[in-house]
Amino acid sequence: MSRHKVTVVGAGNVGATTAQRIAEAGLADVVLVDIVEGLPQGKGLDLAEAAPVVGHDARVVGTNDYADTAGSDIIVVTSGLARQPGMSRDDLLARNAGIVRSVVEQSARHSPEAILIVVTNPLDAMCHIAIQASGFPRERVLGMAGVLDSARFRTFIAQELGVSVEDTHAFVLGGHGDTMVPLPRYSTVAGVPITELLSPERVQALCDRTANGGAEVVALLKTGSAFYAPAASTFEMVESILLDRKRVLPCAVLLQGEFGIDGLFVGVPVVLGAAGLERVFEIELTADERAAFERSAEAVRELVAKLPA
Ligand SMILES: NC(=O)c1ccc[n+]([C@@H]2O[C@H](COP(=O)([O-])OP(=O)(O)OC[C@H]3O[C@@H](n4cnc5c(N)ncnc54)[C@H](O)[C@@H]3O)[C@@H](O)[C@H]2O)c1
Repeated sequence: MSRHKVTVVGAGNVGATTAQRIAEAGLADVVLVDIVEGLPQGKGLDLAEAAPVVGHDARVVGTNDYADTAGSDIIVVTSGLARQPGMSRDDLLARNAGIVRSVVEQSARHSPEAILIVVTNPLDAMCHIAIQASGFPRERVLGMAGVLDSARFRTFIAQELGVSVEDTHAFVLGGHGDTMVPLPRYSTVAGVPITELLSPERVQALCDRTANGGAEVVALLKTGSAFYAPAASTFEMVESILLDRKRVLPCAVLLQGEFGIDGLFVGVPVVLGAAGLERVFEIELTADERAAFERSAEAVRELVAKLPA
């Protein structure tokens, strides 16, 4: 049986940290790709040289040539620009759309059976580009955002109640943006909904902090954005697929009528296994939750409408 192979496109903060996690777990060989010459090679070599100390046998290489990515089981797309001063959201959308289209076309050509995990922002819109550029079925195009947003919510719940993060579960639906929908009713500590453990005001404060989670880190870092939690979240998706764990994780997927939405990538709980998206896990929403979910989907629809043809 051959080893698994994962390509990570973009050897920046999120990409390199994701590569490190995959390699150090011994989950797969990793190919790190970037447009900058020497960057993926240097980080790949550095990660390979950590292997004897960490004690794993995963091979890590860096390259600028997509031929080296051939036969990958999973392609993680983290390449893109962060928003620069003076750059509008729409400029960023157009620039990253061009980057994601180009890297997905090249990597899909060399790994036609791979599963794509998109990380580049604006996430939901980039998933639309990825599915078009690859021609892959929806089962093999997934966006990472919900795992991260839920992890942030879990962190804040655990800190608020002084309990282990391990016993804390959280649900966040919708697009990856200001309109994301944390669901307190489905967010629990040891199975007890947080709505029974905290006042409505505290629940709302934790939901607001979750929706603002990315911006909170950016404001502290001043240059660059979060990458440890995003890389850990991407790793969780990769692991569930390669080990066919069938974890139920919130991911951006192309909805085809589920949750009353058709033809749009939105974050919903899904079963993730060897085939990629194996099932959308539909849950009942109250009228308020449904309205918030539809507002979030509408924000994604507006972004997608602005994508360059
Ligand atoms: N979905 C999420 O929840 C989430 C979380 C964190 C970050 N992100 C997004 O992930 C992306 C990467 O973030 P980062 O912090 O790693 O940024 P970064 O700037 O550290 O890394 C981006 C890398 O992409 C490379 N790149 C640019 N154009 C390329 C191309 N055409 N081909 C190959 N590589 C190319 C750059 O050289 C750079 O090394 C950003 O779009 C960020 O907004 C998303």
